[in-house]
Amino acid sequence: MSLLILGIESSCDETGVALVRTPDGQGVPTLLSHALHSQIEMHRAYGGVVPELASRDHIRRVLPLTEKVLAESGEQLENVDVIAFTRGPGLAGALLVGSGAACAMAAALDKPVLGVHHLEGHLLSPFLSADPPEFPFVALLVSGGHTQLMRVDGVGEYEILGETIDDAAGEAFDKSAKLMGLPYPGGPVLSKLAEGGDPQAFKLPRPLLHSGDLDFSFAGLKTAVLTQAKKLGDELEARKADLAASTQAAIVDVLVKKTMAALKQTGMKRVVVAGGVGANKQLREQLNEACAKHKIRVHYPELHLCTDNGAMIAMAAAMRIQAGREQALHEYAFDVKPRWPLDSLR
Ligand code: KG4
Ligand code: ZN
Repeated sequence: MSLLILGIESSCDETGVALVRTPDGQGVPTLLSHALHSQIEMHRAYGGVVPELASRDHIRRVLPLTEKVLAESGEQLENVDVIAFTRGPGLAGALLVGSGAACAMAAALDKPVLGVHHLEGHLLSPFLSADPPEFPFVALLVSGGHTQLMRVDGVGEYEILGETIDDAAGEAFDKSAKLMGLPYPGGPVLSKLAEGGDPQAFKLPRPLLHSGDLDFSFAGLKTAVLTQAKKLGDELEARKADLAASTQAAIVDVLVKKTMAALKQTGMKRVVVAGGVGANKQLREQLNEACAKHKIRVHYPELHLCTDNGAMIAMAAAMRIQAGREQALHEYAFDVKPRWPLDSLR
């Protein structure tokens, strides 16, 4: 039976709403419409996300965005079969807005709800692209809060092969950018600046590159960037693009080499990249090159679906229901999970 699923994302600083439809029987669900409001402008003055402001803004945005996706798709709210929302991980107050809105709408319409894992949303977002992957694959999940290599055998079949022992890759981008005096969010700004710089200008550490396992560590890199910035002193302004390029090269180098090691270790021939850092151009270029050399297929989400959005939440709900892993229920519990390990999912 075809299902119309509304998805709501509100775990951090983006309010996202989307509608997907599952086909009759199996097959990849279709994205009908999606809408997003980014809070970047609002948080920029503070140099990072202010949780209380994030929650308040989600409240202001969630219903207008819902009306927008309904209008754009030509669907009626009462025809929605399931309302999905991000249950975690993320900021507790922000998550409560999405779950509150989802549960309130569902209760009013007498429809079931489904709480979705934010990272499962990222992980499955490449299925929304023109070139969707097939299971099984190795996944490189690189967001602002997480850096994980996973073996993915199907929906809900996730085994963590390695992860960061301290900062996430996105965090490494953001914190290094901040140390260089770049505005929030650092990742995309640093990467843009790096285009005009020399990636070999500064020798920065590649932590755990030869550790023999698939774990990551980025905290030391941040310290090295700070040391380098201090050493440059007045020269920093003139050498900023070089420092940005060198920082990006260090992060990308580790991500690519560890991903290739994970592919070798599992013997898999397919890799899926997901999460905000998956938008990084250098990462895509270097990974494409390495994968071409080893005859590995590589999949990414569409660029605009790399960072947080509602489409991935509706999609993950659709795929979990299709796989028979989950049922949407008439239980309006408001129980969000700010901390929630992905490999605890079934
Ligand atoms: O997945 P995401 O939107 O949110 C989380 O779930 O964390 O990821 C956001 C992260 C931020 O750290 C941001 O700086 C980084 O992704 N990011 C990038 C780029 N675009 C977003 N990092 C490097 N290059 C980019 N182009
Ligand atoms: Zn995210």
